[in-house]
Amino acid sequence: MRAAVVRSFDSPPRYEEFPTPVPGDGQILVDVLASGLHPRVRSGADGTHYTSDGRLPLVPGVDGVGRLPDGRHVYFVADDDAPGTLAERALLDPRRSIPLPENADPVTVAAAMNPAMSSWVALRRRISFRAGQSVLVLGATGNAGQMAVQIARHLGAESVVAAGRDPERLERLTGLGATRTVSLAGDPEEAADRLGEAAADVDVVIDYTWGRPTERAIPALLTRRADRSAALDWIQIGSTAGPDITLPSFVLRAANLRILGSGQGSLTAAGIVAELPSLVEELVAGSFTVGTRAVPLSEVEAAWTEPADPARRVVFTP
Ligand SMILES: NC(=O)c1ccc[n+]([C@@H]2O[C@H](COP(=O)([O-])OP(=O)(O)OC[C@H]3O[C@@H](n4cnc5c(N)ncnc54)[C@H](OP(=O)(O)O)[C@@H]3O)[C@@H](O)[C@H]2O)c1
Repeated sequence: MRAAVVRSFDSPPRYEEFPTPVPGDGQILVDVLASGLHPRVRSGADGTHYTSDGRLPLVPGVDGVGRLPDGRHVYFVADDDAPGTLAERALLDPRRSIPLPENADPVTVAAAMNPAMSSWVALRRRISFRAGQSVLVLGATGNAGQMAVQIARHLGAESVVAAGRDPERLERLTGLGATRTVSLAGDPEEAADRLGEAAADVDVVIDYTWGRPTERAIPALLTRRADRSAALDWIQIGSTAGPDITLPSFVLRAANLRILGSGQGSLTAAGIVAELPSLVEELVAGSFTVGTRAVPLSEVEAAWTEPADPARRVVFTP
């Protein structure tokens, strides 16, 4: 088969021949129709993801839309130890796949599921989110953040504060449901002050940045909170601004702050998969705006090195 093949962690994948994987017990070989270039795909391909075992060559790709031998379409998440989905063929584990309705567009599904499920699953499984609550999306200008703004409103958030750096994408979030936007650009202390003024009393933070923006945002919000005993669920999901923070101990004593994460591990694979059919239903119904750019897999090397456009997820079509 043809696939995107990584032979060195320093170089982008190239479109080459690769042995077609052989299904093991319970696995099914599917034709891949569409597969997204998510941040997790890049970290797998450059060897920096924590699941990387350093073995090369490898085929990157963590999920996609596939066609079963009987012609039906499915969305599936690849096993960590199987060749990835940026290929003409991939192995499917039925426990990590869901059927797609006939009218589901493979490119839209492949683009949206990974970024969308981050907030969909977090709000539905990790906390007891209730309609009428208020949400801050920290790092709202990426693909996952843009979906989180829409999903929080869709699930009943009364208000959503969207915070991010890029002014154009931030502006567009108002049309996607943000009730207020806050720029994280410029002087970091001033940005934290703006955030504290705008979001001090939210019930939930969906955090894609971590690092310095989070480190500054936590005290900025909590010190301005009208009722510090009111619960604040801070859901850690991404780390675009850095893997670590320093947290002063007083913030945990002085306010009802509950920091938790959402992702594979804090949720079981079965728990995540159980949430996917309802998300697909909303995607197919057109409940969310999804930016996509379909690229033939044969052009993977060029697309990989182009500057990313966070308004549109690249989806490879073999
Ligand atoms: N746990 C999960 O289930 C899960 C699922 C999906 C994604 N994620 C994670 O969520 C994060 C976002 O994913 P994505 O798909 O949205 O990626 P993306 O589309 O590439 O967006 C990333 C955005 O991060 C922003 N950013 C980068 N550096 C920043 C900084 N220093 N401060 C503030 N913002 C910064 C950029 O927006 P600006 O240009 O506006 O700054 C960029 O558009 C990644 O870390 C990803 O691995 C987690």
